Amino acid sequence: MACQEIEEEFIVTEKANHSVLWYNDIGISVYLTLINEWKGDWMSVETLKWSSLPYTEEQIADEAARLHSRLNVIGWSPIECALIAPLTFEINQLKQKLNAVVLAHSYQTPDIIYGIADHVGDSLGLSQEAASTSADVVVFCGVKFMAETAKILSPQKTVLLPDDRAGCSLAASITAEDVRALKRRYPGVLVVCYVNTYADVKAESDACCTSANALAVVDDMPGDRVIFLPDALMAANLAPLTKKEIISWHGTCVVHENFGSAELEAFRGQYPDAKVLAHTECVPEVVAQADMAGSTSGMERYIAEHDEAKTFMLVTECGMTDKLKVQFPDRDFIGTCVLCPFMKKIELRNVLSAMKDPDVSQVIELPEDVIRRGRVALDRMLSVGRAERVK
Ligand code: 13P
Ligand code: SF4
Repeated sequence: MACQEIEEEFIVTEKANHSVLWYNDIGISVYLTLINEWKGDWMSVETLKWSSLPYTEEQIADEAARLHSRLNVIGWSPIECALIAPLTFEINQLKQKLNAVVLAHSYQTPDIIYGIADHVGDSLGLSQEAASTSADVVVFCGVKFMAETAKILSPQKTVLLPDDRAGCSLAASITAEDVRALKRRYPGVLVVCYVNTYADVKAESDACCTSANALAVVDDMPGDRVIFLPDALMAANLAPLTKKEIISWHGTCVVHENFGSAELEAFRGQYPDAKVLAHTECVPEVVAQADMAGSTSGMERYIAEHDEAKTFMLVTECGMTDKLKVQFPDRDFIGTCVLCPFMKKIELRNVLSAMKDPDVSQVIELPEDVIRRGRVALDRMLSVGRAERVK
């Protein structure tokens, strides 16, 4: 149930002043009996009862309070936290039982980031975690290319992606056969693939990179020319920074391609002291106008290192805004309203179902030769490490 729906349902129950709020899913039945009029604080929920669940009311009340202590800064009410508490509680219990780790990308929703994630970060940080974790099970709250990357780096582990529709417009823009055709067309030119590609494309590439090290990986490649795929805009952003000639592909991110320089100019007029942070998947005009351009983790670092700045505009997926508001409560963030439809396929409910009883679509499996060849490209990326060029 989306937050807003919960809120609407709650408003109905609030008016009734003595009613039951039902929340049903995957065999869980939660009801909250609201005896008193809601007064806006945790104690005014007089009775909380959960039916047929493997935990006590006290455990769930504690979990709800834990969630509320993190999420109240972004406006989550105690009721909203109480509604998700059985899910986060059970997922956190299962993590111990399965020796599982939950890796979450920064574009995930706050209930995932602050409710269940063990590590939150950008594509590079999550790849590094996937390569080094001692867990037996990796639950990926992100998109499919990220979960596949985790599988290539830790093939002996079970890697779960709660919803296999969590794709990516960049990854979908190119196939392994497209890469082979490029290599036939440009014989001898090495291929750098952005991490936002599927495993079989990585297997055809010489090196992989993320937004946190694209320039360093390109510069590290032998030769005067490099095939850089599939992000045409990131390639255009790299071109003026490297001496190499870049041969690019035509992929774009459905989120970042939306931002234009006119919006940024208008924003600058309104908030002259604010810092503009843009992802390098944006068009070059936007990147040129930004104070900082880079990865999602690069944005976080920039904020942490710029105490003097109080207001930031985030030219990236809107999930970042909530994440950073919790992390930096003393700063103001102006986000955008562009959601990644793929990242948002992951919800607490499908995370729980994947951990309890995964179906085949939720378990990442890759052919052995794809793992072996993809690993070569990823090892090159990991050996370069984080080498962000921050404006
Ligand atoms: P980061 O690696 O910078 O987090 O970017 C991943 C992504 O998909 C951006 O759209
Ligand atoms: Fe892909 Fe863009 Fe979504 Fe990132 S934000 S996962 S690049 S579609």
